[in-house]
Amino acid sequence: MSLIKEIKRRRTFAIISHPDAGKTTLTEKLLLFGGAIQVAGAVKSNKIKKTATSDWMEIERQRGISVATSVMGFDYNDLKINILDTPGHQDFAEDTFRTLTAVDSVIVVIDVAKGVEPQTEKLVKVCRMRKTPIILFINKLDRPGKDGFELLDEIEQKLDLNVTPLSWPINMGAKFKGIYNIFDRNLYLFEPNKQRVENGVAFDDLANPFLVKYIGEDAQILRDELHLIEGVYPEFEIEEYLKGNICPVFFGSALNNFGVKELLDCFIRIAPTPVGRDAEERHVDPAEDEFTGFVFKIHANMDPNHRDRIAFVRVVSGRFERNKPYSHVRLNRKIKFSNPTAFMAQKKELVDEMFPGDIVGLYDAGNFKIGDTLTEGEMLHYKGIPSFSPELFRYVENADPMKSKQLAKGLDQLTDEGVAQLFTGKATGRKIIGTVGALQFEVIQHRLLHEYGASCRYEPITLYKTAWITSENKAMLEDFKSRKASYIALDKEGRDVFLADSPYSLTTSMEKYRDIKFHFTSEF
Ligand code: G4P
Repeated sequence: MSLIKEIKRRRTFAIISHPDAGKTTLTEKLLLFGGAIQVAGAVKSNKIKKTATSDWMEIERQRGISVATSVMGFDYNDLKINILDTPGHQDFAEDTFRTLTAVDSVIVVIDVAKGVEPQTEKLVKVCRMRKTPIILFINKLDRPGKDGFELLDEIEQKLDLNVTPLSWPINMGAKFKGIYNIFDRNLYLFEPNKQRVENGVAFDDLANPFLVKYIGEDAQILRDELHLIEGVYPEFEIEEYLKGNICPVFFGSALNNFGVKELLDCFIRIAPTPVGRDAEERHVDPAEDEFTGFVFKIHANMDPNHRDRIAFVRVVSGRFERNKPYSHVRLNRKIKFSNPTAFMAQKKELVDEMFPGDIVGLYDAGNFKIGDTLTEGEMLHYKGIPSFSPELFRYVENADPMKSKQLAKGLDQLTDEGVAQLFTGKATGRKIIGTVGALQFEVIQHRLLHEYGASCRYEPITLYKTAWITSENKAMLEDFKSRKASYIALDKEGRDVFLADSPYSLTTSMEKYRDIKFHFTSEF
């Protein structure tokens, strides 16, 4: 098949939500439709449950599962669908942010009763920044929840999105009758717990009195609500959706397999085929002949006898081939991969070639870090894998003087994987770990011991935020750095970082040193 045909066949996306909104359930139902799994309950959640904070075996087990479910590929209607899983736990939000750089669109799941929750807000903000096309799925209509219009208002306000419903619920909770699909003008009637897929009843004209036969007194309410929708919400235009300007909304119940097929069928019609990416040097189009790709995630092998890692590479352009030497741009070295892996639902399998939109897993002995670019020789650097200013900080000290090398290597590799960020105090030489969640400190300690034989101890540090600092005004930068000498550190790339110990010190520094730029993400 030609490269263009392969590209057109692919849809690569992520499902994102606040924990418990139904992401895992929806993923599973989509896989069932794709025939990738046969029974419900086959997909284990990649989420690290809140209760796992002190249960290391549980975290290790779940990390193991999350390799298998990191990417779930399946075929549906001649299309190759790649769902990229994202950890639900907020302490792993950075993992999710990075995964979002590897998809072309997202489906956001919202619980009808809970509405827009904090994690959804954070994740959608990242999608909005990247102009990623978004489809919204309002879930759990079999339960009582918020009124549809109220919810759409909340979504528009809190998520700063323009929406237009493509389906509309007929009542909810115990009185939930079904969905009217505005896109196809079909009525779908709900029966609880029915796992079978119901075909819709065509209902072009809702004025048709037969509507009452199906949904009783809700018929008039539905007519009125749809009338209102026509007046209030813009007509759906695919180009606007693809530009990230308008988000179609679907309603349903993932658990009851209701509204899911309509979502999938609409998704495959409207969702973008793999799009290109901006490298620092130029824009790369997926249809270019030469292979290029970037690493967006690194996962340590769970098997203690094989301490290699899997680097997840998003293919951006061209055809990736097994055993062909590719340039690792940062190391300026050619590397061949003899065991590239594809992820099909719950299986991993060796592959000979991969195409734009695909995710290839490369076994790696420590050559990769997040954001690395692979090409056929061109010196390209993909952009858009930001690190965010961490929120929690501790000094990390060696607890076993005999193992200082192991500790250094462990910290180096774990931070390459993106588990946390490492800073070195310029004046003191002390190492500081910064994370977005408390769980990571314990994960690091545990993994250092079990994977590298090193033990570390944490000491508290009063830090509010870190900011990368740059300036055209070299004299001012030097002045700032010498006055704040004990608050300056270097990141792993040797860039200057200001360690602000309070919001006050950050704002006063920003006000006083106006020629200095304070950056809160690593991409500047
Ligand atoms: P997540 O991945 O977004 O965290 O959510 P997940 O799919 O695990 O769903 C969270 C809970 O919500 C699960 O219940 C799931 O069964 C339930 N759920 C998902 N979709 C629907 C729906 O359409 N209607 C209703 N009523 N419930 C739904 P749980 O009891 O926490 O877990 P489990 O023991 O059922 O797995």
